[in-house]
Amino acid sequence: MIILRTIAEVRDAVARAREDGRSIGLVPTMGAFHEGHLSLMRRARAVDGFVVVSLFVNPTQFGANEDLGAYPRDEARDAALAEAEGVDVLFAPPVAEVYPDGFATTIHVEGITDVLCGASRGPHHFDGVATVVAKLFGIVAPDTAYFGQKDAQQVLVVRRLVRDLDIPVRIEACPIVREDDGLALSSRNVYLDAESRARATALSRALAAADDAARRGERDAGALIATALAVLGDAGIVPEYLELRDAVDLRPLDALEGDALLAVAARVGAARLIDNRILRGG
Ligand code: PAJ
Repeated sequence: MIILRTIAEVRDAVARAREDGRSIGLVPTMGAFHEGHLSLMRRARAVDGFVVVSLFVNPTQFGANEDLGAYPRDEARDAALAEAEGVDVLFAPPVAEVYPDGFATTIHVEGITDVLCGASRGPHHFDGVATVVAKLFGIVAPDTAYFGQKDAQQVLVVRRLVRDLDIPVRIEACPIVREDDGLALSSRNVYLDAESRARATALSRALAAADDAARRGERDAGALIATALAVLGDAGIVPEYLELRDAVDLRPLDALEGDALLAVAARVGAARLIDNRILRGG
């Protein structure tokens, strides 16, 4: 594995891989790797002949009061983990390589960014994600880019961006990797002290309780949400949002029909956590 810092070097390495007839897989990340990130690398390794992982804590997707400064960073550890997964290139650029002086373009995806994390974190968040992901697609020109379903709204934003801007990349969403007790892996789980870590399992348990109710035939969105809220309440958690929405266009649902996204965000101790689950209306 090679670690590259510049766009020119990445373009060069990718061009050589293409000449060899290899397909290109891209896994965009902000580092602090855990099994969730590694599962994406493994999937890319299984599918593509050449795997690029980007490691860039993207400042434009953080709000002024968010954790940009505190975000966990350990490039040496991340590089060792990526290398062990057979990654070919770790692209870890400095901020000025991605956002040089005079940088003036922002990509804004309308509609689906107004709700859930777009509402609770503000519009800058998905603008920052869309802009940096579009740049990575322009730099690497991958055949396939791999994203985690953990960030379900992010996957929808990226799919829309690719469709609207005619970017020739296939987007693959990979399943959420969880701890044994259900907690979705996140780089932000390191912010949890022991007491918060124990309470944090309520997020996945709340989603599972609503899923159980749906499987037993409950279709009313209010009832499904009340079921999940009760589990959160028992753990002393008041969510930022807990909503049932259409899994593709994120319109709010009064009743479970087709595939629905049940998504939650909550502050637990020092961490802001998100989780989601697809409920099937049948
Ligand atoms: P980051 O939070 O580092 O996540 C990188 C990728 O790992 C994302 O696609 C995310 O959904 C996936 N991921 C995180 N936790 C996961 C889990 N428990 N199971 C499966 N996949 C998981 O998401 C970002 O970075 C950034 O917004 C980025 C897309 C890199 C743009 O800056």
